Amino acid sequence: MSGNKIWFLGRGFEEYLLMFNLNLNNLKNCRILDCNAGASSFTTHMHKRGYDVTAADMLYGPNPEDIEKITSHDFKTLMDAHKGLEDKVEWGFFKDLAEMMAYREKCYKEFYQDYKNSFNHRYVPEKLPDLNFPDKSFHLVLSSHLLFLYDDRLDYEFHLDSIREMLRVSRDEVRIYPIISINGKGKHSTYLKQIIEDLSPDYYLDIQPVKYQFRRGANEMLCIKKINRNRDSCGLVTYDAIKVEGK
Ligand SMILES: C[S@@+](CC[C@H](N)C(=O)[O-])C[C@H]1O[C@@H](n2cnc3c(N)ncnc32)[C@H](O)[C@@H]1O
Repeated sequence: MSGNKIWFLGRGFEEYLLMFNLNLNNLKNCRILDCNAGASSFTTHMHKRGYDVTAADMLYGPNPEDIEKITSHDFKTLMDAHKGLEDKVEWGFFKDLAEMMAYREKCYKEFYQDYKNSFNHRYVPEKLPDLNFPDKSFHLVLSSHLLFLYDDRLDYEFHLDSIREMLRVSRDEVRIYPIISINGKGKHSTYLKQIIEDLSPDYYLDIQPVKYQFRRGANEMLCIKKINRNRDSCGLVTYDAIKVEGK
């Protein structure tokens, strides 16, 4: 579907709430980082509702027109690519391809309007595996549709370094969605088990079911929480066991 490119695409606010099991009532005092946020409208909508969210992506830059070109190009190309994908996706959140296209177009246009006005404020250029934020800058760090999904083009070291870096800048928790591989026919990424083994001595790791699925099999996220915390500083749900079950 996508060759070796990682698309600059944007999912919507409603998708983010479901992908990451987010409850807005629990996030009022949270600082949130959306890492590799792309053209997602999550930050835009959260900001309008008064939440503190920063979006980071390696393609953000000072010239908004550049982003507009990339976004509209990737949108058109990806939508064409999706026409042959019917057997790889679950229709549910979207009724059909036409509905998905209309939603994604709305998302990236909302993103772009906000981005134009707040580059370097809410939208900051950052390239994993290094982030220019001090330790514990955010309560919650989200990462969607990069790690695990693109395990055919991003190696294990990049995964481990990126996750450790997101943990460094988070106070409480990192959530990653999805945890399947783009070529894995709905199976977990082959890196998942090793990541859990490597991080288990220092963190709580938990695979959580989510009520969102578009790519078939992509109905779980990985939560990584800091150990030795009695309670979350911003009221996030706590998890207390490491559960690793292979798909
Ligand atoms: C498929 S998009 C996902 C965007 C958004 N998170 C979503 O789910 O809609 C992947 C994004 O990751 C960004 N990206 C790829 N490699 C990155 C890196 N090393 N550091 C930061 N962002 C990266 C791309 O620019 C792209 O915007």
